[in-house]
Amino acid sequence: MSFKPRKILVTSALPYANGSLHMGHMIEYLQTDIWVRFQKLRGHDCIYVCASDAHGTPIMIKARELGIPPEELAQRFSEEFVRDFADFGVDFDNYHTTHSAENEALTVEIYNALKDAGDIYTKTIEQAYDEQEGMFLPDRFVRGTCPFCGTEDQYGDACENCSKTYSPADLIDPISVLSGTTPVKRNSEHYFFKLSEYEDKLKAWMKSAGLDKNVVAKLEEWFEAGLRDWDISRDAPYFGFRIPDTEDKYFYVWLDAPVGYPASFKKLCDRRGDLDFDEYWRPGHDTEVYHFIGKDIMYFHTLFWPAVLEGAGFRTPTSVYVHGFLTVNGQKMSKSRGTFIKARTYLDNLDPNYLRYYYAAKLGPTIEDIDLNLEDFTARVNSDLVGKLINIASRCAGFINKRFDNRLADSLADKALFADMANASGQIAEHYENREFSKAMRMIMTLADQANRYIDERKPWIMAKDEAQLRDVQAVCTQGLNLFRSLMIYLAPVLPEIAEKSREFFAEEQWQWSDASKPLLGTTIRKFQPLLTRVEPDKVASMVEQSR
Ligand code: 2FM
Ligand code: ZN
Repeated sequence: MSFKPRKILVTSALPYANGSLHMGHMIEYLQTDIWVRFQKLRGHDCIYVCASDAHGTPIMIKARELGIPPEELAQRFSEEFVRDFADFGVDFDNYHTTHSAENEALTVEIYNALKDAGDIYTKTIEQAYDEQEGMFLPDRFVRGTCPFCGTEDQYGDACENCSKTYSPADLIDPISVLSGTTPVKRNSEHYFFKLSEYEDKLKAWMKSAGLDKNVVAKLEEWFEAGLRDWDISRDAPYFGFRIPDTEDKYFYVWLDAPVGYPASFKKLCDRRGDLDFDEYWRPGHDTEVYHFIGKDIMYFHTLFWPAVLEGAGFRTPTSVYVHGFLTVNGQKMSKSRGTFIKARTYLDNLDPNYLRYYYAAKLGPTIEDIDLNLEDFTARVNSDLVGKLINIASRCAGFINKRFDNRLADSLADKALFADMANASGQIAEHYENREFSKAMRMIMTLADQANRYIDERKPWIMAKDEAQLRDVQAVCTQGLNLFRSLMIYLAPVLPEIAEKSREFFAEEQWQWSDASKPLLGTTIRKFQPLLTRVEPDKVASMVEQSR
């Protein structure tokens, strides 16, 4: 049977363009990037798009505080994100912004389609209004005393002490975060999307999407509680897209944010010319669409978004892959503990490959939180990557370079051992495919142990002292380097930069997944360059210090 590449479109959640990326964000971008790189290495047509989430009240307010237009604030953060992503090796096919012509056109198209389908209606609602600032206040911009437990200074949507949810109108002694004045209640007409009409379709989608069982459980809870129609409009002043045929109503940021996925893809289509937008976004095509997200934004991606797509005549996502939150040293990230670590602060101190590997070694397909324990991070990276993996190559390369004029032997010394390596290919691939990265890493490190044992037992550095054993040194080192090469191909999605350098060391043009099962023999390789150095604990400490 001939190989037919899958056509896969992948997204990560769009970061809000009003604050820097931190280690929590990086879980998602690294998880997605590893999965995408794996698909590409397997020979599939896999496209990875993302964008900055530019709209909404917090961005508008922050820009106002800084005395700059919100467009400029979003632009500044977007540029920062692009640098951070590139330096972590996160390789988007396109990175866009939701404040774009493509996004506005698609958002309006979707809205009009929903309206034509009879899924939009208006209703007057009462909301907190700040008379001094002349604007309606989002729930998070009102604070006051919890009506349930009496804890002071709580947000307008939920209490941090007793976890109860409520509306700002329920707060005792509410004040506006913006002006410190007491908000008044004011009426305004809002636009609603009839989410409630989509229950059956959403249930059918849920069954077909192969969601994690915890995600399904959450969805069932929401179905049980009953789906409520969704308020998709906000009053001026608001930074977003104006709703057609209105003077002062804007689309709520969460309507146009996920539209940023197809909008970024549209921009890529226009840029590349060989992609068909409809093939990926209209029903009835043999393509796959996956959204990687965090568990905090599940409601938007597993209810609103599929319903909106369905209603507007677009295709629904093949699946939504949800990950958990990050803890650092077992606790929530904290500025005072120095564990609220920005992506840039990490990069200023440590090699991105360390984190790529560490997250991979911890990631699974569930919504379970993952912990970045900084001591474990140092120990694990040093032992696995430097002590096991790179060590295989550094113990063999020098002999081939110096004693054999860079030439690998013509045959394998231990075919059975190489076969073990090749035979693991299917299982490792399956783990990557299922986002069982931690299982893939464990298998790879077990194979690395075997490779090291092989070298330890033969000790080429002792054999090399005896002229009579020289041929055996070449054979042993060729074997060792081939084991290293296969491991590096398996790790290429996680450690693309090191894989690239290794591929150059082997003087090969390109690597595909299947190359891991074919030994490289009788060829000339290049001079070995150091691939990775140990994590220095004082660098970790200075990263924490700089984060305080
Ligand atoms: O939660 C967030 O950070 C949002 N900016 C994610 C948006 S994802 C997509 F829907 F746009
Ligand atoms: Zn409370």
